[in-house]
Amino acid sequence: MYNKGISIKAVSRTCGGMSFRKKTIRDIDVHDKRVLLRADYNVPLDTHGVITDDYRILQSLPTIQYLLDHGAAVIICSHLGRPDGRPNPAESLFPVAKRLKELLHLDVEFAADCIGERTQKVATNLKPGQVLLLENLRFHAEEEANDDGFAKQLASLADVFVQDGFGVVHRAHASTEAITHHLPSVAGLLLEKEVATITQVMENPERPLVAVIGGAKITDKIEVLQRFIDIADVVAVGGAMANTFLQATGVRVGKSKLEPADLPLAKEILHKVRAVQKERDFVFYLPQDGVVARTLDKTAPTRIVDWSAHVIADIEAYPKRPLHEASQVQADEMILDIGPFSGAFIAGIVQLAGTVVWNGSMGVTETKGLQGPIGPTAHGTELLVEAMLGQFGNRPFSVVGGGDTVGFIQAQGLTASFDHVSTGGGASLELMSGRKLPGVEALENK
Ligand code: 3PG
Repeated sequence: MYNKGISIKAVSRTCGGMSFRKKTIRDIDVHDKRVLLRADYNVPLDTHGVITDDYRILQSLPTIQYLLDHGAAVIICSHLGRPDGRPNPAESLFPVAKRLKELLHLDVEFAADCIGERTQKVATNLKPGQVLLLENLRFHAEEEANDDGFAKQLASLADVFVQDGFGVVHRAHASTEAITHHLPSVAGLLLEKEVATITQVMENPERPLVAVIGGAKITDKIEVLQRFIDIADVVAVGGAMANTFLQATGVRVGKSKLEPADLPLAKEILHKVRAVQKERDFVFYLPQDGVVARTLDKTAPTRIVDWSAHVIADIEAYPKRPLHEASQVQADEMILDIGPFSGAFIAGIVQLAGTVVWNGSMGVTETKGLQGPIGPTAHGTELLVEAMLGQFGNRPFSVVGGGDTVGFIQAQGLTASFDHVSTGGGASLELMSGRKLPGVEALENK
């Protein structure tokens, strides 16, 4: 199965019993109205300004299409990057206007500023069925400052505000919070789908509920980790974050990526895990083997270290005793992926699940291989993806938290195969943690 790439047809289901208590575009009349639509078009651009991942743009299309079909003129605003309150051509939304034009098969006007007289004029002249994209909101420091005067200027462009930028609703900014004090404000279809699906999965999942959490730092995901320890049946940890936990349990991790400052936190979490395990059935799984190398490049020789499973080392060395190195990461080595034993273990758990929530890769997925796009340290993540998509039998309801994880599955053309792939990084983590999202709270209730 390794190195073959994954080929799975697109089958996605919706989460049963979705509920969303905010008004959406379906609850209002947008006919002949100018609608200010907040999207999250914070998309990656290469050095030539070419969009390298348009998932967020694609996910915004149903709302735009709905508004156009219902007779609205659509004025879209967004941020891109963190330009620090100053115009920066490298962070212009102009490439997004071009991409939108291709996707909508429609002329998309572009305004070189999101406020001001000229923008006001273009917005006023916009007819139903037409689309205007405004330049990066964050070219004005007032956006991130949640400035009321700035919000008022934005509001003057339209009759109604629609929030559909799920990826940014965890921020209280002028275009997510202050704006709602100046215009009737409702949710778009993407925001509704994101909040309803993630809330349903956290509050009433089909069980067993399995959370697979990877990525670099425990501190980045501490709240979501704690929440899953409270509600999930299994939590499996991978990625560099697992190294800190392994070190906390006494496993040597060599020169692996590690957050020494997170060690007390890791110990605290392991303590909590033991307390939960006294109360109910709960599995907290840390990798038992890993793929290690001395350097991080595609030609570096890798080996498997079997620090607690002792399966591969015993078989390889039989009938002798395995070499000491077989079960120990050496001082000059680093763990770059979960090993085959851990990958198979996690895949097995995933097959028994009713719902799987995944956030963060199991290893280094960015380094390409000599023989193709799946590098030598991406197999753990590849195996997890295969299991989530039912390659081995049962297919659980699958939710992928946003951020870097999405890049991996999108590169393989698998985004549509999961039941829900979030467009939000920080926003999905905060929602999963049980936090209120200011950009959602500010919208009108049903
Ligand atoms: C994201 O990419 O997570 C969102 O667009 C929010 O961006 P920010 O972290 O710069 O606020």
